[in-house]
Amino acid sequence: MDSDGKKVTLPLLLAVGTAVIGSLQFGYNTGVINAPQKIIETFLNETWFDRYEEPITKSSLTSLWSVAVAIFSVGGIIGSFSVGLFVNRFGRRNSMLMVNVLAFLAAALMGFSKMGGSWEMLIIGRFVIGLYSGLSTGFVPMYVGEVAPTALRGALGTLHQLGIVVGILIAQVFGLESIMGNRTLWPFLLGFTFIPALLQCILLPLCPESPRFLLINRNEENKAKAVLKKLRKTTDVTADMKEMKEESRQMSREKKVTILELFRSPLYRQPLVIAITLQLSQQLSGINAVFYYSTSIFEKAEVPQPVYATIGAGVVNTAFTVVSLFVVERAGRRTLHLVGLLGMAGSAVLMTIAMALLDQVKWMSYLSIVAIFAFVAFFEIGPGPIPWFIVAELFSQGPRPSAVAVAGFSNWTANFIVGMCFQYVEELCGPYVFIIFTILLLGFFIFTYFRVPETKGRTFDEISAGFRQSAAAGVEKHSPEELNSLGADSQL
Ligand code: GLC
Repeated sequence: MDSDGKKVTLPLLLAVGTAVIGSLQFGYNTGVINAPQKIIETFLNETWFDRYEEPITKSSLTSLWSVAVAIFSVGGIIGSFSVGLFVNRFGRRNSMLMVNVLAFLAAALMGFSKMGGSWEMLIIGRFVIGLYSGLSTGFVPMYVGEVAPTALRGALGTLHQLGIVVGILIAQVFGLESIMGNRTLWPFLLGFTFIPALLQCILLPLCPESPRFLLINRNEENKAKAVLKKLRKTTDVTADMKEMKEESRQMSREKKVTILELFRSPLYRQPLVIAITLQLSQQLSGINAVFYYSTSIFEKAEVPQPVYATIGAGVVNTAFTVVSLFVVERAGRRTLHLVGLLGMAGSAVLMTIAMALLDQVKWMSYLSIVAIFAFVAFFEIGPGPIPWFIVAELFSQGPRPSAVAVAGFSNWTANFIVGMCFQYVEELCGPYVFIIFTILLLGFFIFTYFRVPETKGRTFDEISAGFRQSAAAGVEKHSPEELNSLGADSQL
């Protein structure tokens, strides 16, 4: 690998840093609704009273609250599925810029909902910011993957997840009662989502369009070259150009691939199954059971000061994403994903033991904190960041937008299911609820071990060549080692 391949230049950092403001928005709005629940419920109650002159019933309150929380993921499902409508038509950068309209609209709706005495505004606002977040989870990893040099694709791809976790942490801290999670300031807490939107609108025009989009989709070779020179801070971009042209040559056979074609063609079956399963492994690991309900989990485990334990989980979450950022290019995606899944399964067992023995052994509540922190730490080693950026790696330019849409859709749907069902399942299973996640985690470990190839250090073209040859050979399921060597052969 040439030394230039690893150069983090200022224009590259600006481009990636600006894009991941979209990830930060997603994280912020994931975490923001957790701490001020009681306060916002009071608002719902008072508004109800003003309208109907009677207090809201407990069940109507629960329903209104659940809708306000869950409608975010419904927006996410629709948004992520719509990625393909934007990216090829307007380009990657302009798509990111345009959808900030949604963030401004959502900020206004949520920020003025109290003043307007309208929970409808709050709910619609949550839906709209969900749309924005769904679109961002497609746009950002795609843009970052396309501007990054091969040797840094994993590390820079992890920045999407870092943006998310920092967003969650900021929301957790700002949501403290002493800061903004109180009766007067909660509308600002929700409305503050306009600040990152504004910042992104200022910075995005300074960032380049994806050179891959310019060359492969628009056939604008000179522009692509100019952007690459800027991003790589070098005049010699022949290697990058050669690789993109090779992909483009393949593309003339592939063209734009619709979602339907993606499912029909045997060519994409293997990477598609891998992409979807990895998304499911991220969400069905149970991570959002922790991020949506950690405070109540800690309460049940009789942890003193559960809100601070939740913030502790946010800090561990951020710290381990940084760890992953630094090791992903050395250890590889596959290894880190495997380590993460297994570690999460172990932590879930520990969690179950702690919850089950809580009545007999008092210090078990401390074990439950350790178990949750470990669960979160292992998540961020692999299952957090990797599924997001690996989809862009598994597909070449033609099918990429459709693949990203399908993967995002799977991710958000699973997110919605866990968010909606966790509390009910917990009522049924009591302290044993995390056993379900343990079983799922072990299943995903086995799948990853047998099916997921390593993508570290391989160009987009090499990766898809691996799948192409495997499909041409008529083999439905190649082992990871076979896929890797097939891809490498294509370069000889
Ligand atoms: C991932 C998940 C998201 C989760 C977050 C926690 O980004 O997609 O749903 O809340 O990690 O860090």
